[in-house]
Amino acid sequence: MRVDVVTLFPELFETFLKTSFVGRAMTGGQLTARFRSPRDFGLGKHKSVDDTPYGGGSGMVMRVDVMVACMEALDTEAEAAGLPRARRVLLTPQGTPFVQSIAARFSTTPAVMLICGRYEGFDERIRGFVDEEVSLGDFVMTGGEVAAMAMIEASVRLIPGVLGNEESTHEESHGEGGLLEYPHYTRPADFRGQGVPEVLASGNHAHIAAWRRAQSMERTRTRRPDLIEHVEAAVFEKLAKARKESAG
Ligand code: ADE
Repeated sequence: MRVDVVTLFPELFETFLKTSFVGRAMTGGQLTARFRSPRDFGLGKHKSVDDTPYGGGSGMVMRVDVMVACMEALDTEAEAAGLPRARRVLLTPQGTPFVQSIAARFSTTPAVMLICGRYEGFDERIRGFVDEEVSLGDFVMTGGEVAAMAMIEASVRLIPGVLGNEESTHEESHGEGGLLEYPHYTRPADFRGQGVPEVLASGNHAHIAAWRRAQSMERTRTRRPDLIEHVEAAVFEKLAKARKESAG
């Protein structure tokens, strides 16, 4: 997976890209990252990347001409290196909420361009130059950089071989089953009077699997009932597909 990042603060990514499994994915070649700052395309003596809003109001707006020049420079570089054009993703609180299925899609997209803004927002006309808009959640940050790191981390760990243990991404929360994950325990067997569920020490794998599935369902029902609807919809969809296949 290649990520091209449009950011005024590439240095924010330095430690992130060197640390833990993201660092290993970088050295292992499963992840490559390229950065370009809109400042390089800024205007005038001060290399301005933003301007005051038409119609007045507080705050500054990122200029569309500067942003698009930066995005196109990354495309030109990629093309010269014989690399595929990146899918352009604008990071904005107005975008589609980032969820596990988007992470999975990014992890199989050859190249993703993450476009980070600062200040009040982007000139509206940038929207015609991107493929999609994604939000990290219903809150506002001063820039998209933390959102970009979160999206890179969630996507890269899904690339086969990056985590080492393939199993670990299958059963986790928001994984393929769409449920929250069951509770985990490790030693000590007793911590300040709190033990470990007996079934886990029973050695009976069928019982353990059934207990975990029930815990997953119960946790999701109490904490995130909204997810159950999605699980049910997915199960119905699978059933309908299987019926259609066996009929045809
Ligand atoms: N930039 C500022 N806030 C953001 C958010 N919630 N998601 C993505 N990018 C952002």
